[in-house]
Amino acid sequence: MNWNNCFRQIHRWLSVAFTAAVIVNIIAVLQQKSTVWVGFLALLPLCLLMLTGLYLFLLPYAARWRARCE
Ligand code: HEM
Repeated sequence: MNWNNCFRQIHRWLSVAFTAAVIVNIIAVLQQKSTVWVGFLALLPLCLLMLTGLYLFLLPYAARWRARCE
């Protein structure tokens, strides 16, 4: 598996973790048990999603840039 596929798979599974954390957050808010740590539970995968997502976003531009330099 190359790096691009690896990042795509990581981004995909992080999205599952993020969705689960959002559901946990909604339940915590409804039960009035929300804490800072429950919030961080969603924030961590979201930050990682942003980093891997930006990498995926730049891939086609990097490929075009590399092709032009050859
Ligand atoms: C936080 C900032 C995020 C950025 C910058 C970002 C960016 C991207 C980019 C550029 C792609 C690739 C699109 C393509 O095929 O060319 C992608 C795919 C995807 N994103 Fe995100 N994303 C973000 C957050 C999220 C979130 C919050 C979710 C869902 C909870 C999500 C779920 C997905 C999924 C499922 C794919 C398809 C992965 C695959 O091809 O297998 N992303 N994202």
